[in-house]
Formats: sequence, C-alpha cells, structure tokens
Amino acid sequence: MERLIIYGSRYGTTKAYAEQFAKLTGISVVNYETVKDLAGYGQIIYFGGLYAGGVKGLKRTVKKLEDCNERLVVVTVGLADVSRKENTEHIKNSVAKQVGEPLLKRTTMFHLRGGIDYGKLSFKHKMMMRALYHSLKNKPAEKMTQEDKALIETYNTKVDFVDFRSLEKIAKAL
Ligand SMILES: Cc1cc2nc3c(=O)[nH]c(=O)nc-3n(C[C@H](O)[C@H](O)[C@H](O)COP(=O)(O)O)c2cc1C
Repeated sequence: MERLIIYGSRYGTTKAYAEQFAKLTGISVVNYETVKDLAGYGQIIYFGGLYAGGVKGLKRTVKKLEDCNERLVVVTVGLADVSRKENTEHIKNSVAKQVGEPLLKRTTMFHLRGGIDYGKLSFKHKMMMRALYHSLKNKPAEKMTQEDKALIETYNTKVDFVDFRSLEKIAKAL
C-alpha cells in the first residue's frame, strides 16, 4: 500500500515530528503546501500543528481526499497536555469537524505535544496569545481548565515538550 506523510507546521515542531516519523517508517514526507494530487495513495498520515483548535493545513488536505478511498491518520501537535482526557476529547472534536463525513469513518487520531517560543512568534500570533492570556487571567479560578492554567504558566516563555519516543506507538499502529 502506498503511503505518504504530510505536515502543516508554522514554527517547526510539527515538521520535526513528521520528519522523524519518516525516518522511523521509511515513508516519504512533504509539506501540505506542496501537495497537488493524492490519488493512488492507500494511507495518508497527516501531522498538523494546533492553532486555536484547528489543525494547520488539514482542511486543504481533506479537500484533496474527498473523492478517494484513502485511510487517514491525523497526528496533532499542540501545547495542551495530551495525557489528560479532557484535552484530547476537545482536540478530537475539533479534528472531527475539520475532517467531516464520510472520511471521518476512515480516520484515526493521535495527539502529541509540541512547544512554543514566544520570542519567535509572528506579530499576529503574539497578539492572539496576548488576548487569550488576558481573557484567561480574569476567569474565576474554579472555571479554569488545566489547559488554561498551562497557558498562563507558560505565557511569554519558551517551552519544549517534543518527545520523539511518542512516535513509536503511532508507527506500531499503522
Ligand atoms: C496563535 C496560537 C494558537 C495556538 N492554539 C493552540 C491550541 O488551540 N491548542 C494547543 O494545544 N496548542 C495551541 N498552540 C500551540 C501550538 O500548537 C504549538 O506551539 C505547536 O508546537 C506549534 O506547532 P509548529 O511549531 O509546528 O507550528 C497555539 C499557538 C499559537 C501561537
């Protein structure tokens, strides 16, 4: 079966995961922006960074899969702690909306942790994170989720949760 790894990454953590996964499995890897046609593949493994709940580049890739019978594996990379079920449920729901039926029935999901370096964010992303931080800071403590607390704690710093060992279970599941 022909397989392809595709990634959507803005600051490089997702790209690093996708390239490491390619090394681990021997499957070719490409940036979603360069993909033209996906006919003929049996399985697409999509690595995408999470941005305000959305997976970078996923919608554009899904459009190319609409008339095919491929199986899709979506691997998200974000800051949220994916060992917590409340976080993965939230991510799964937003991925499901982006994938949509009938492809969702042929889709498997995995969730990894990336990182953030506020010093390297674009102006637009800095402003988005600043607005989010200020809105969360004023939330009553009892309404704060773990994800909110983590964002407040890491605001304006550099954190790196990238762990290539987390790729092994995905390789096994293919
Ligand atoms: C504007 C912005 C929005 C983000 N939204 C989310 C989010 O909704 N959920 C999450 O877990 N991480 C979120 N993140 C963190 C990124 O997913 C994380 O930094 C990831 O490693 C980025 O991948 P990349 O380096 O491949 O671009 C956000 C980061 C930025 C800058």
